[in-house]
Amino acid sequence: MDIQEIIALVKKARAFVENREKAGHIKTKGRADYVTQVDTDIQEFLSRELRSRFPDIQFLGEEEGLHEMSGDVYWILDPIDGTTNLIHDFQHSVVSLGLCEKGKITMGIVYDPFREDVYYAQRGQGSFLNGSPIHVSDAETLSETIISVGTSPYDRELTAKNFQRIQRVFDLSQDIRRMGAAALDLAYVACGRTGGFFEPRLSPWDFAAGMLLVEEAGGQVTDFAGEPLNLSKKGSIAASNGKIHEELLGIL
Ligand code: IPD
Ligand code: CA
Ligand code: CA
Repeated sequence: MDIQEIIALVKKARAFVENREKAGHIKTKGRADYVTQVDTDIQEFLSRELRSRFPDIQFLGEEEGLHEMSGDVYWILDPIDGTTNLIHDFQHSVVSLGLCEKGKITMGIVYDPFREDVYYAQRGQGSFLNGSPIHVSDAETLSETIISVGTSPYDRELTAKNFQRIQRVFDLSQDIRRMGAAALDLAYVACGRTGGFFEPRLSPWDFAAGMLLVEEAGGQVTDFAGEPLNLSKKGSIAASNGKIHEELLGIL
């Protein structure tokens, strides 16, 4: 499979993202959890195109929800990561596409249509931004870094404890960032803009592609307990350049 062919396909999502009228067609899925016509149009488009090119590969997309996959190989898509940002024209949302084979992500693409940036990785081959290799930061301690955080806005029962974590990380690091698109948070860890990222609950489509980006760029991704992430369920996530991972987990 040629990753450049898949990237070319994913980049076609830009035309949908530019449609501000459709970004205004909003349905509410839950507390602060929305889906716009742009999300569903991108998922429909990419699932159709991928299925027709690779009929043997199954498809898991956010807008059809988590379900059991019967096969070993499937695409895992977040058509728009950062839907709330998209609704507010905050210009910080991405398309995130991963390929899962036998329980492992083997290909990850995070496409930022606002900056026309493509982050991508294949297992064992490193991570790239627009064709150039990227690496995690070389910070040795939290005090040398900024850390991006996620607030799991759809699960408000997690808020109080999470804001305590955020405060502790803020106290020990240079600063924190809350940007609103987890897949892009992971891409920023991969290219060394931040030293790490954490969020108490994410779904597999949020982290599938970004997790491979971080690992292939030399970093580390686990849950808050230091265990590997499970691609079939929601869970906590801590990503870092590796060097500060233990310090970060100690706080979480
Ligand atoms: C959300 C974004 C957000 C994160 C949420 C995610 P969505 O994804 O990644 O940054 O805090 O936990 O669910 O709903 O915009 O695809
Ligand atoms: Ca998402
Ligand atoms: Ca989404």
